[in-house]
Amino acid sequence: MTTYENLLLTLDNGILTITINRAAKLNALSIETVTEIRSAVQQVYDDAAVKGAIITGTGPKAFVAGADISEIAELSEVTARSFAERGQEVFSMIERCNKPIIAAVNGFALGGGCELAMACHIRVASDNARIGLPEVSLGILPGYGGTQRLTQLVGKGKAMELIMTGDMIPAEEAKALGLVNHVVPQEDLMAKCVQIMEKIMIKAPLAVGLVIDCINAALNKDENGYQTEANAFARCCASEDFVEGTNAFLEKRTPNFTGK
Ligand code: COA
Repeated sequence: MTTYENLLLTLDNGILTITINRAAKLNALSIETVTEIRSAVQQVYDDAAVKGAIITGTGPKAFVAGADISEIAELSEVTARSFAERGQEVFSMIERCNKPIIAAVNGFALGGGCELAMACHIRVASDNARIGLPEVSLGILPGYGGTQRLTQLVGKGKAMELIMTGDMIPAEEAKALGLVNHVVPQEDLMAKCVQIMEKIMIKAPLAVGLVIDCINAALNKDENGYQTEANAFARCCASEDFVEGTNAFLEKRTPNFTGK
């Protein structure tokens, strides 16, 4: 497996755990770290041994405390645009991946950390997590998709308030808003993520991947999500897993899906 400066990767039972590993900087996303995340996510796409991924941060304090402010401080109008576009491209790769990616939010998820978690398909937070987009405190705004994905997840009014105040909210409040799916004690966080992943991994992989496309289509103004759904439904019906799934039901046995 590739080794990284700022990430730790482990592959266990088909689950690739990607751990942001810059504890001294509360796992802040340097440009190099974002590039490494891109490469790790590319592995999720390409490696048949990887069935899904969990993204988390090292240590008990932070998931990711934002983009690295020492690098942001150096940006000009020209370099800032490509900085934002590059981060957006990597986070879109996560969102569009046809294998499940879960964020295990183990503490502060601020700025780029909140944006990274929002790009994942499912978010589970530990009870100590604090989540927010505090960029306006620095004279900037979220540039890695935060204004768009927060609005999609919590609605316009609450997104306006959270981004304009820069408030960091506790995990339970984030759950009440629909920003995270579950809140668990920190010691149970990874087990909860693995449990969700294992439930998904015994389902038909092709169907699961197409579910991701369809739900993303619901939020894409340029796409007719109903047509995407009908096409995906038809594609499933041409798959070997469809035959296996329906036969297994009729034969009262557990299906054995292959992803074909
Ligand atoms: N970028 C770069 N370094 C960061 C960072 C970030 N986003 N967040 C934290 N760090 C660094 C701190 O500078 C400090 O480094 P140092 O020990 O070399 O001085 C180290 O991580 C520990 O952070 P510290 O601020 O001392 O911890 P704390 O417990 O007092 O506060 C936070 C924790 C998360 C509230 C605080 O670090 C913070 O507000 N971070 C910035 C959050 C932010 O604005 N993110 C959006 C960026 S666009």
